[in-house]
Amino acid sequence: MAIEVVPLTETDIPGVIEVIQQAFADDPYFKWVFDGPKFNKQRNYDSLAARCHWGIRNAMFQVAKEQDAILGVSCWLAPQPTSTPESWYSWVQGWSLSFNQLVNNIRYLGRGGLRANRYWIWKARQTEAQSQIWDDPLGYYFCNMVAVSPAAQGKGVGRMLFEAVTRKADEEGRKCYLESSKNVPNVQIYERMGFHMSMEMECRDGEDACMLYCMVRNPKTTE
Ligand SMILES: CC(C)(COP(=O)(O)OP(=O)(O)OC[C@H]1O[C@@H](n2cnc3c(N)ncnc32)[C@H](O)[C@@H]1OP(=O)(O)O)[C@@H](O)C(=O)NCCC(=O)NCCS
Repeated sequence: MAIEVVPLTETDIPGVIEVIQQAFADDPYFKWVFDGPKFNKQRNYDSLAARCHWGIRNAMFQVAKEQDAILGVSCWLAPQPTSTPESWYSWVQGWSLSFNQLVNNIRYLGRGGLRANRYWIWKARQTEAQSQIWDDPLGYYFCNMVAVSPAAQGKGVGRMLFEAVTRKADEEGRKCYLESSKNVPNVQIYERMGFHMSMEMECRDGEDACMLYCMVRNPKTTE
């Protein structure tokens, strides 16, 4: 049966969250930012569901499917040219997502094990890294998240998800950007997709540090 990459729909959300939770179970950033014994899987499900709903309206949220089975998912943010300020719609949508996460905090009496201080350390490092790396006025396609179910990894599903966006980026002559939370094997995998290492980003909270690998892909020209 053929695998197809299609935009995320409401009915895909439970399957997509299952893939994300499985694929990130051993992720170094995930382990650094969540307090393992306090991790609340259902709270995390609701947080991811809010992000999926936001993503359907505001991001390039794609799923790789084989019949009805979800094999992988990716979420990309469209480039924001420096000459174009953020739209009101996008601004309101961002606040609406934050509000929904606040509602989740109240419903679950907390963040389900998320270490908020570490989340903000990461956000600060990310802003610094992007301000140093992002020098193209056309903006960058930003890979916010990519995950392939463990059983389907290494079979070309990730490449299909990437190519759905990199093909468009190539046509438009735009760059792509991602932050990998794993060195081995992900950096090598992303190099196969045309990305190169731009900066290693350290997120440190006292003794505990987490490395992220900032990678850029230049558009391929057909000439
Ligand atoms: C990273 C990830 C999205 C890649 O998806 P995938 O479906 O496993 O990758 P593919 O099978 O499409 O492989 C893409 C390329 O990388 C190569 N590759 C795959 N696994 C590899 C490995 N372990 N080591 C080296 N290269 C590898 C493939 O050969 C392929 O190159 P080619 O098409 O030129 O032959 C997926 O493995 C994943 O979800 N991992 C867990 C979650 C995660 O780390 N998410 C990203 C956080 S930044």
